Amino acid sequence: MKKNAGIIGLGVYVPEKVLTNTDLEKMVDTTDEWILSRTGIRERRIAMPGETCSDLATKAGLEAVKNAGLTPTDLDLIIVATISGDMLFPSTACLVQSKLGAACPAFDLGAACSGFPYAVAVAQGLILSGSFKNILVIGAEVLSGFIDWSDRSTCVLFGDGAGAAVISEVGGNKGILSTYLASDGRYADLLKIPAGGSAIPPSSESVQQKLHTLKMNGSEVFKLAVRNMGDAALKAIELAGLKPEQIDLLIPHQANLRIINAVRERVNMPQEKIFINLDRYGNMSSASTIVALYEAVKTGRIKSGNYIELVAFGSGLTWASTVMRW
Ligand code: ACO
Repeated sequence: MKKNAGIIGLGVYVPEKVLTNTDLEKMVDTTDEWILSRTGIRERRIAMPGETCSDLATKAGLEAVKNAGLTPTDLDLIIVATISGDMLFPSTACLVQSKLGAACPAFDLGAACSGFPYAVAVAQGLILSGSFKNILVIGAEVLSGFIDWSDRSTCVLFGDGAGAAVISEVGGNKGILSTYLASDGRYADLLKIPAGGSAIPPSSESVQQKLHTLKMNGSEVFKLAVRNMGDAALKAIELAGLKPEQIDLLIPHQANLRIINAVRERVNMPQEKIFINLDRYGNMSSASTIVALYEAVKTGRIKSGNYIELVAFGSGLTWASTVMRW
């Protein structure tokens, strides 16, 4: 029987601190009504001072390893998808490896909000090559440290969190059936943190000008997100040899409810086949789809044998989708 790569264990960790829309009303000129109607977000989690991306990633990773029936020393590779790692270097994945007590290669992958499906595609290829057996893939973000908390157009959107999956060889016609990855760097300026890299190294001017915080052209990102997530979802379904109506649950990147609804119309799927949890977390970038997948499994929305699809979109621009049989 044909072997696939597939998920054998899932884990999640979100910080305890909840920041509600009402809390934000006291910080910037906004209202719960505006945020809810324009985005669908009610609250998000925010890391405590000193609580780092690798802390969140390690907690999610440990749960995934345990749920896979493994210990950290069984891991052959750790990939952390993140754009808000602890430091520019070393990689957050190396910090996670040490915190877990694992003894395997580890590296970070940067594809912004598409990071988790990108990392799944890499892990799938490495498993099928026969070189690796158990790969821990984590999506983790502490973007709260890179938000301009006086900019109402961005600070209401994002939250912190981490999700993890152990990917190994699976049988029974289950596992990853297709992956589709895309990028278009011509739109790099639409969503970025301009400073802190070699283009604009840190200086007192860069800090004063708030160039270390996230800048976004929201309306342009909105339009491109709808088009490209819709296309990616349909392409991955086609690559899996399926029809859209065969997908039991679509798990889209949780950035904005209006984007999700527009994508749903493009792929022509009914509301009940779309998983949504952004009301409680906001946009957790690379952690978004994996935390949603975890919750969909935990709450019984995904059953053995179901066809499920993740689709994401983010800075780069990047977009990606993967279809799995659970
Ligand atoms: N509260 C109140 N008013 C606000 C707020 C706020 N939090 N934010 C913006 N406004 C105002 C604006 O200033 C503007 O006022 P003006 O007309 O007086 O200038 C007005 O609301 C309308 O602003 P728009 O930007 O046109 O609002 P829009 O309906 O486009 O919604 C939003 C903005 C929610 C950011 C939307 O563009 C969006 O969701 N874009 C995609 C963002 C996204 O998902 N990015 C991440 C995807 S990729 C990734 O995840 C990394």
